[in-house]
Amino acid sequence: MAKQGKMRVIKPCHRLEGEVTPPGDKSISHRAVILNSIASGEAEIVNFSPGGDCWSTVGCLRALGARIRKVGTSDFPTLLVSGVGERGLTEASNVLNAGNSATTIRLLGGLLSSQPFLSIVTGDASLRSRPMGRLIEPLRLMGAEIWGREEDSFAPLVIKGRRLHGAEISLSIPSAQIKSAILLAGLFAQGKTALQQLVPSRDHTERLLRQMGAALESDGKLISLNPLASPLRAISFTIPGDISSAAYFLVAAAVHPDARIVARGCGVNPTRTGIIDALVAMGAKLRIENERLNASEPLADIVVESSKLRGIEIDGEIIPRLIDEIPLLAVAGCFARGKTVIRGASELRVKESDRIATVSRELIKMGAKIEELPDGMIIYGGKSLTGTELDSHLDHRLAMSLAIAGLVAKGETVINHAQMVSVSYPSFWSVVASLVPSQSSERSEEAERELKE
Ligand code: S3P
Repeated sequence: MAKQGKMRVIKPCHRLEGEVTPPGDKSISHRAVILNSIASGEAEIVNFSPGGDCWSTVGCLRALGARIRKVGTSDFPTLLVSGVGERGLTEASNVLNAGNSATTIRLLGGLLSSQPFLSIVTGDASLRSRPMGRLIEPLRLMGAEIWGREEDSFAPLVIKGRRLHGAEISLSIPSAQIKSAILLAGLFAQGKTALQQLVPSRDHTERLLRQMGAALESDGKLISLNPLASPLRAISFTIPGDISSAAYFLVAAAVHPDARIVARGCGVNPTRTGIIDALVAMGAKLRIENERLNASEPLADIVVESSKLRGIEIDGEIIPRLIDEIPLLAVAGCFARGKTVIRGASELRVKESDRIATVSRELIKMGAKIEELPDGMIIYGGKSLTGTELDSHLDHRLAMSLAIAGLVAKGETVINHAQMVSVSYPSFWSVVASLVPSQSSERSEEAERELKE
């Protein structure tokens, strides 16, 4: 990669201790603002995700006529949404830009297929290389007129919205984005939409839709949705903290020899807690406290202390429950005794980067022993890691996973293209600095190096 972008220097630390309050959950934030925009009534969405991905969704919705105001701080924003109702969206006067966010383009792809106007949706170079055939094919079964570049494989997408019909759709890939796109389209279709998924994926859309009055039934694998008979009811709530963001600090505490971290207010929806199950299976000292419910989403505080981890094997139904945390799990595997084997995760190859290749390549540079598999990797734990110059491959989750490895490695770790964390966790570097005071004292030197770029 030619240009390094912004870089960050991570130094190992002797002690890691403190509390983190992760930003609002990214997946729930996308859904909360989309569904409230097409609802009837006013909604206050507290603790909306501050990450760039969710602002891409807000930008697209505003271009479609949604009325959304931001108040609160930039780290913990609140959105005030005045729903425009089920027929209130209007044609955008320009191409919609989903930025780096696959959730934005796929969820809006479903919604816009059912709206009576033309939409063109694009994104950055990474998003334009991610598969869209998986979105286009099922939507066409509902009558959608939607096309993509390279024979319907990639964005930009062109959508000639129209009245759709319900269909019976079986999803071969466990994707919450595609499932949600179909449900959004199904809200406006004629007749029932029945969706079957082989493996359950995150169910935030289903939970919110039910809360907002949609006629949806689900047993986790089989979902049926009747089109809207009356508008969705706006819903005000506080978005739980993002378990996928908290996970960096949970793993940091588990692999660090002298650590204790409390992550406050984390979403613990069972379709998202695979990382907790995996860490516990690896022998992590992890406790869940103060479990509570918020707008049908469970949340809790999570406490993790230094642990002696052992390798595990994961495959099958747990994979969608921790898909975004697998690069981080690879880091945990490096510090565990024995082998960690991850299979059934070929989806990682079509994320913001090919995460099987990129996380293996970067951790190997630090001295890890990792074997790539077509659908996962084998991590041979117990090799000590040494800091070196690494790259995020323009992938936010890689930048943050490598930073955690750097906190426990020997010597300094330099992470290029570190600015990518802003996609989901803009305050990530300052949270690291707050937990590890020695990192903040290095910031002027680091800032100087950034200026030389
Ligand atoms: C997401 C679903 C997952 C996940 C992504 C967010 C969502 O993607 O990896 O970060 O909010 O629906 P897939 O639907 O492609 O599995």
